[in-house]
Amino acid sequence: MGSTAKKSLLDLATQKMVESQLWRSIFRHGYPDTPLNQSLVMMGNVFLHLHPVKVSRQAMKITYTWCMGGISFFLFLLLTITGVFLMFYYIPDTNVAYQNINQLNSAVSFGHLVRNMHRWAAHLMVVSVTLHMIRVFYHGAYKPPREFNWVVGVLLFFVTLFLSFTGYLLPWDQIAIWAITVGTNLAPYTPLLGDPVYKVLVGGGAVAQATLIRFYVGHVILLPLAGALLMAVHFWRIRKDGGAAGPPPPSRREQETSEPAAVGSAR
Ligand code: HEM
Repeated sequence: MGSTAKKSLLDLATQKMVESQLWRSIFRHGYPDTPLNQSLVMMGNVFLHLHPVKVSRQAMKITYTWCMGGISFFLFLLLTITGVFLMFYYIPDTNVAYQNINQLNSAVSFGHLVRNMHRWAAHLMVVSVTLHMIRVFYHGAYKPPREFNWVVGVLLFFVTLFLSFTGYLLPWDQIAIWAITVGTNLAPYTPLLGDPVYKVLVGGGAVAQATLIRFYVGHVILLPLAGALLMAVHFWRIRKDGGAAGPPPPSRREQETSEPAAVGSAR
């Protein structure tokens, strides 16, 4: 009897709270135990609305996507944060860039740690984006209705590779200068546009100060901006396409072969 009174008191308090103006100004839906309220919850919450209202149960399993897209996004955020830290110390000048990096490693608090976090996250992002692309291809998620997002993904793949390539030059050590010299020497072999492509990339006849500033601006502004914009479109499109593609429905042959067994087991 006592517990019923207590429960009803709790119920009353809950009802009062849920019906209060403050509550209703934040939550504009009832308890999510009906399909309508479930949809309203998804659409009325800034975080939940990033997901489609309905997703395939199979595609939610961690072993389905291995979270490679999510890990790529996490690494992008980590690279942005650590990159901003590095920007406080690094000067894109061929006379001081190498010294800057050495000082960052030896004289700046947490400098070595943050620089290595940036390097490792960059390598890992190339790996995770590649694995994500392979996973998506394996599940045939490049097919309609996801073909547009596959193209956005291919652009993201190139942005990731270019971010890695441009970042490689910035320490201005021997390995960076010669790696970029070899890399950019491929550009003149581009059919028709070879020479202009080389000049735009390098900013002259050889890898020098003009190349460093071009790669720096590309690395810290143009490519991250392009990446962020493409990711926004990518995520929006995943939602519109109904989340990650689930496994395909069984083929007619699979249905036919499973039918006699089902009849047999029913007997
Ligand atoms: C910076 C790079 C990228 C990020 C942050 C990213 C992020 C994501 C995330 C979070 C998902 C949700 C499912 C999952 O985690 O697997 C996803 C799905 C998808 N991604 Fe990416 N992605 C990137 C690059 C790519 C690339 C390179 C491709 C292909 C060329 C691609 C194509 C797709 C497609 C088609 C889907 C829908 C998958 C499905 O329906 O199963 N993405 N992406």
